[in-house]
Amino acid sequence: MRITEREISYVNEVLRHQFRTTASAGMGGRLETAFAAKFDSGFAIAFANGTATLHAALAAAGVGPGDEVIVPPLTMAATSLGVLHTGAVPVYADVDPDTWNLDPRSVQSRLTPRTKAIIPVSLYGLPSDTGPLMALALEKNLFVLEDAAQCFLGRNHGKVVGSITHASSFSFQNSKHMSCGEGGMITTNDADLADKIRRFSCLGYGAVSGGAGKGKISRETIQDPGYLRHTSIGWNYRLSELCAAVLLGQVERLDELVQERLDSAQALAEAVAGCAWLIPQKVPAGIVHSYWCYTCRLADDVAFSWQDFRKKYLEMGGDGFYGAWAVNYLEPAFRGKRFGDWQTQSLETGLCPVAERLQPRLMQFKTNYSDPKRRQNAADAMRKTIAFFS
Ligand SMILES: Cc1ncc(COP(=O)(O)O)c(C=O)c1O
Repeated sequence: MRITEREISYVNEVLRHQFRTTASAGMGGRLETAFAAKFDSGFAIAFANGTATLHAALAAAGVGPGDEVIVPPLTMAATSLGVLHTGAVPVYADVDPDTWNLDPRSVQSRLTPRTKAIIPVSLYGLPSDTGPLMALALEKNLFVLEDAAQCFLGRNHGKVVGSITHASSFSFQNSKHMSCGEGGMITTNDADLADKIRRFSCLGYGAVSGGAGKGKISRETIQDPGYLRHTSIGWNYRLSELCAAVLLGQVERLDELVQERLDSAQALAEAVAGCAWLIPQKVPAGIVHSYWCYTCRLADDVAFSWQDFRKKYLEMGGDGFYGAWAVNYLEPAFRGKRFGDWQTQSLETGLCPVAERLQPRLMQFKTNYSDPKRRQNAADAMRKTIAFFS
């Protein structure tokens, strides 16, 4: 259940403060403290959404015009947009045919002297293979920003996603494990980076250094005409106190929210088990999936289409399910474009063959069922649909 009395009481606390500038419930700071603790990170910085997070983290790491950032093409396009917002160009590396996450071997092949950063995406909630990427980063002095928009409490060899790379980005958009409608968070263990990221999100205000609410300035100082506020250039990417209140309640109940998704994925996995032509995303040893959704690939040699399967699944009582986003560089906004005169990739079919082959065959089944009956219903529909086509 997404909203409980806990979230409502925190929202009420914010409202009772009347949005005064001189006193607040301090929800932003409370959320960040709780999130940083839950994700084993030194710092957490709240944002208005999980695209602004990517932009700000890259900018704070010094990424800008003339640079290249390696990204996967099989993701929501915000991963590439965050790069473009900095003035850098995204460079597409291919994905692993079984986990569908960024393939470190392909990343290696895309490195150039202009490469500044890598953004592995924990697709569908499966932690990406960040070990080899962090080793590469150490060798080549690169910044690794995990796009964990879909991954809450996923684990990679014991470590929670959010605590592994130089920085990690989360989204609280409607579909995510935790949500207040729109929101985002960056985690990092680097104090200097955290400080820059926060100033980017807060219009470049010097007073926010050190953390939300930490830079309290006296009334005399702030009302003085001689007071200088901006120590850098920034954007207003702040999260509202109302959203922070909802998220504070949810981060305190995050295990329960994630467990609902794991239980739904488990019910679907049992229904799919043994089917030779519906192949789930591979979970490598040592990885804990957080199942933002449960995703399968339709085998190449079946005699029916993705659309046929979906139609039958609905007839059998299942919920609608989603196809994967188009391979990003084939979207009209990207295809054939040159985003900088240093761009060497041609954004056309054939750039990442594994992703292009996978994308039309993926089926993203929902896992956000808090009611066990709906979970069971989805699993029953899956069993019946598989039986129909087998
Ligand atoms: C992988 C990925 N990255 C980034 C984003 C962007 O997050 P937001 O919608 O909060 O801007 C999303 C969101 O849906 C996402 O799934």
